[in-house]
Amino acid sequence: MNIATTSLAGLDLKVEIDRLRKEKNAVILAHYYQAREIQDLADFVGDSLDLSRKAAATDADVIAFCGVRFMAEVAKILSPEKIVILPDMDAGCSLEDSCPPEEFRKFREAHPDHIALTYINCSAAVKALSDIIVTSSSAEAILKQIPMDQKIIFAPDKNLGAYFNRVLGRDMLLWPGACIVHEAFSETELLKLKAQYPGAPVAAHPECPPAILDHADQVGSTRAILEFALSSPSQTIIVATEPHIIHQMEKAAPHKKFIGAPGADGNCNCNMCPYMALNTLEKLYISLRDLQPRIEMPEDLRLAAKKPLDRMLAMASGTVGLGDLGLRR
Ligand code: 13P
Ligand code: SF4
Repeated sequence: MNIATTSLAGLDLKVEIDRLRKEKNAVILAHYYQAREIQDLADFVGDSLDLSRKAAATDADVIAFCGVRFMAEVAKILSPEKIVILPDMDAGCSLEDSCPPEEFRKFREAHPDHIALTYINCSAAVKALSDIIVTSSSAEAILKQIPMDQKIIFAPDKNLGAYFNRVLGRDMLLWPGACIVHEAFSETELLKLKAQYPGAPVAAHPECPPAILDHADQVGSTRAILEFALSSPSQTIIVATEPHIIHQMEKAAPHKKFIGAPGADGNCNCNMCPYMALNTLEKLYISLRDLQPRIEMPEDLRLAAKKPLDRMLAMASGTVGLGDLGLRR
């Protein structure tokens, strides 16, 4: 679909999106990294785990997913009877790109005594090759339910895996992927910022490299970072994740100052996720109007990818042993 050839002149997009949402019985789900105007009209804004739960529970006929493709795929995997639309099908993820399914399959075959714990930021094909999916907010609770002597492959984010190896004393075998956005933070510039705002705590996403996490007062998922920023007694908070999340912080605590951690040029613009930025209000309007582009996948792939996602949802909200899951190796 070519937006340039579609005349949207004179339309009040917010009013039109609202009209279409009701007409089509659609729910608009948005990640914290989406543009402010998309966050503001979404029915729900959340982290990857909360968005998965919402997608699984909604009774809407259409899920308009404002996030990246793997997130919309999760919505389709969990709610196959719904129409799932993504405003821009090119909204990928560098972590997904870093883990091609065929290479991951060979890696698994080379380590048959390991289970595969895989970050949700991956393709449906990689999910289908995995045992348990995790998000940054569910990984710790899930890892605590896995015996320490169980060998584990962690893919695709080496920083997230290294962080949990460190805090939980594990020795997971790490796939060498990384997020281009979180890798762009500069330790030198962060230290300069800390000197400028002495006492301001740093909240960081675990996708950041260890050199950034070493300076963090709090490490957690986007939701955990938001909760920390709002509950901290400090009036100034340094935020080391994609800066669009600051919109929610400023809405909830307008009296506080939230500063995005800088990249190497001292300007946090290099930490905007280029994939998330592909979704716009215009594309959301067109996707709701046309119910395109849709997430579709073969049923056998969906069922295979659903298994490790279901394990995540069970383990994230309760205690299910590996034995119960038939996963002990
Ligand atoms: P969360 O699960 O913390 O929302 O993270 C998703 C993501 O893509 C971070 O880059
Ligand atoms: Fe992927 Fe990084 Fe963008 Fe998150 S911020 S969607 S991990 S590229």
